[in-house]
Amino acid sequence: MTALINMPRIVAVEVLDTLAAVDPAARRSRRDLQRVHRVMRTRAILHQALQLSVASHSGKASLRILELGAGDGSLMLSVARDLAPTWPPVELTLLDRQDLVDHETIKCYGELGWTAVTSVVDVLDWAAEKSDAAPVRWDLIVANLFLHHFEGAQLADLLAAITRRSDRFLACEPRRDWFALAASHLTGVIGAGAVTREDAVLSVHAGFRKKEITALWPANGDEWRVQEYSAGFFSHCFRAERVERMEVR
Ligand SMILES: C[S@@+](CC[C@H](N)C(=O)[O-])C[C@H]1O[C@@H](n2cnc3c(N)ncnc32)[C@H](O)[C@@H]1O
Repeated sequence: MTALINMPRIVAVEVLDTLAAVDPAARRSRRDLQRVHRVMRTRAILHQALQLSVASHSGKASLRILELGAGDGSLMLSVARDLAPTWPPVELTLLDRQDLVDHETIKCYGELGWTAVTSVVDVLDWAAEKSDAAPVRWDLIVANLFLHHFEGAQLADLLAAITRRSDRFLACEPRRDWFALAASHLTGVIGAGAVTREDAVLSVHAGFRKKEITALWPANGDEWRVQEYSAGFFSHCFRAERVERMEVR
């Protein structure tokens, strides 16, 4: 009972991560994920968080955004459709260790005025890149259902790389609580296949709660403004924004 209330964070390899991109079970799971997002209301949650994240960037000519663990790029595309009419042009890089984004998706981004490219790389290699003398910088890095794959030194390295390369960060992750756990056992109700049914439960156990990401954020309190909060019924979000230093006269 105590274990259920406290729910210690447990990170395990998800089934989808063991399957080849073209495996029919993996394809099915990625389609399931779109249904899971509808139940989680991910699109609305991301929309709101993205608006807040770039509010301080308003008036700029364009935005450079990196999505980590972007999957097939369809989730960000659905959010881009809502944002594009009022946003400046976006240069978007979709990073994933699997090559999952098809030409049609890239074309759809283009029709919105967003330039989308893919980067097929393991994020831990990205984090360890030694090009930090002149690192590529992003206005915003986004991660959805992604940070929860990591713990310990790997998560610390990943967050440290994000702080070196971006002025803003937004993560939307599974919320680790009994309600989300109960719901994760019911994904069969929305027609999810075996891979998603298993991964949904693993994801909640690996999810976040309270101020856990804030506690791991590797920056001095006066350099970053951070906010960590529950969103919807099942999500846990973290936003960080670099605070521009006041010039000393
Ligand atoms: C649960 S899916 C989320 C996809 C998308 N962000 C969404 O919310 O629909 C996690 C994604 O992370 C990718 N991934 C897992 N581990 C990774 C790693 N070490 N480096 C890069 N991508 C990784 C997987 O290939 C998968 O596409």
